[in-house]
Order: sequence, then structure tokens, then C-alpha cells
Amino acid sequence: MNDVYFQKLEEIQKNEFIKAAIDCVGAGVVITDPEQEDNPMIYCNRGFEELTGYHSEEILGRNCRFLQGEETSSKVVSKIKAGLEDYHPVFVEIRNYRKDGTPFWNELQIFPVFIENMDQTYFVGVQRDVTKRREQEDLMGHYLNEVKRLSTPIVPVEDDISILPLIGTVDDDRIHDMLETVSHHVKETKEDYMIMDMSAIHSYNEAIHMGIYQLYQLLKLMGTQLIITGVKPSLAMQSTPYANFSDLQLKTYTTVKQALKAIR
Ligand SMILES: Cc1cc2nc3c(=O)[nH]c(=O)nc-3n(C[C@H](O)[C@H](O)[C@H](O)COP(=O)(O)O)c2cc1C
Repeated sequence: MNDVYFQKLEEIQKNEFIKAAIDCVGAGVVITDPEQEDNPMIYCNRGFEELTGYHSEEILGRNCRFLQGEETSSKVVSKIKAGLEDYHPVFVEIRNYRKDGTPFWNELQIFPVFIENMDQTYFVGVQRDVTKRREQEDLMGHYLNEVKRLSTPIVPVEDDISILPLIGTVDDDRIHDMLETVSHHVKETKEDYMIMDMSAIHSYNEAIHMGIYQLYQLLKLMGTQLIITGVKPSLAMQSTPYANFSDLQLKTYTTVKQALKAIR
């Protein structure tokens, strides 16, 4: 046995060692060869087989787009294509499909890797199933929308009057949501009066102050009069550092009951 034999054996053992190590990675790993027609896959690890349900023999030689399907965004595919054309790394989340047709969210990273002794660049792709995280994010978005909706409860009391009770912490974001919800509501109902009740508010701030001003202007443009109720003396005291609203014809009452009586 000569030196070349031992060198080759060492090379094979090294490759086997690296292959075994990559198989242990808790993610899909593939290598593609862009010098061949349609950039086919020339290697995939066990993680990729487990993730997609395909066996390597069925898929080696094919372009990875076979994982795409009906819900795959063409925008994301174009982003990958553009990145690969420029030999830039790509990082996307893409809707893919397993062999049995079940969809999953694939967090895909692609890196161009130059292999010196082959004088060629290959692409290495790493795939992770992030379906659970995406589902949690979607659920969270749904709940946030629900909270947003519930935090501006508009209560119609008569044909032309609604009450908007202000509750909880009020900041710029909430004021923004409130203005949006109120303008939608008034556009639909074309009410004459909107009563904003502040009896559940314990501390006054700039967001509330500016919110009242903006709401007043918005409703005026839409032909609805804003009435404020429930301003406690402590709240009125806290509002003194802010610009006064003497130029607005803003009506205020101690209670909603009094406001309704005055309107009628
Ligand atoms: C290394 C590598 C791994 C890839 N892995 C995936 C993958 O897991 N899922 C997928 O939808 N596309 C994957 N792609 C992208 C597609 O192979 C293809 O490049 C993409 O669909 C854009 O080209 P096309 O518009 O010709 O289809 C991978 C590409 C490379 C180079």
C-alpha cells in the first residue's frame, strides 16, 4: 500500500466525517451547482429529507423549486432569483410543500461558496421549518386587531348619537386607532353627535389632549359635533399645561346623562 492510497483513504474518511456532521445539523442543508443547466441539487443532508419527506435519490439533479406550490409567493421567488443571479446571499421565508402535499413555512438561507481547489462557486442552502412561529405570529396579529377593536367601543344610543367611552392607557398609537375607527363609524352612520366619555380616565396626557383636538376637527369636517363628558376636576387640573381649546366650540358636561338631556 502506497502513500496515494492512504491519502485517498484519509480524504474519503474526512468527507464521511463531514457528511455525518452535516446530517446531525437540525436543519436541511443542500448544495447546488450553478454551472450545470438549471442549477440542480447535487447534495442534500438527512435533515432535508426529514423536512421535505423526499429521499435524496428522488430529488438529486433537480432544481429546488419543486418544493414550491399554489401558495408560494412569486414575489419571494423573484427575490431569490435576483439574489442568485448576482451571487448574493439570500434570506427569505417561503411557503413550501412536502412530498405528501402538506404546506410549511421554510426559513431559507442561501450562500454562494467558492471552492478554491475546484475553482468554482456552489450554492449552499439551509432550510428550517418555522411554521409554528409563523402561526403564532398570525394569531398574535389577530388578537392585537381584536384588542384594537375592543379598545374603541362605540355605543350607539340613539339614531343620531353615539358614545365613545375612553378607557385604559391612552397613547399616540391608541389615538391614531381611535381616529380611524371613529371616522369609519361616522362615515357609515352620519350621526349628529359623538359623546366622548372620559369618566374612566384617571390621568391626562398630551396624547389625550391632541386626540380631543384632532377628533373635534375630524368630526366637524364630517358634520358631527363632539361632546366631552366625565371630566373630573383632577383631570381638568392636569390639562392646564397644554394649549387651551378656547377657539373650539367644544361642549363639556359632567355626565353622559346631562349631555343627552342637553341634546334633547
Ligand atoms: C442552494 C439553494 C437552495 C434552495 N432551496 C430552496 C427551497 O428550499 N425552497 C424553495 O422554494 N426554493 C429554493 N431554492 C430556490 C429555487 O431553486 C430557485 O432558485 C427559485 O425558485 C428562483 O428561480 P426560478 O424563478 O427559476 O424558479 C433554492 C436555491 C438554491 C440555489
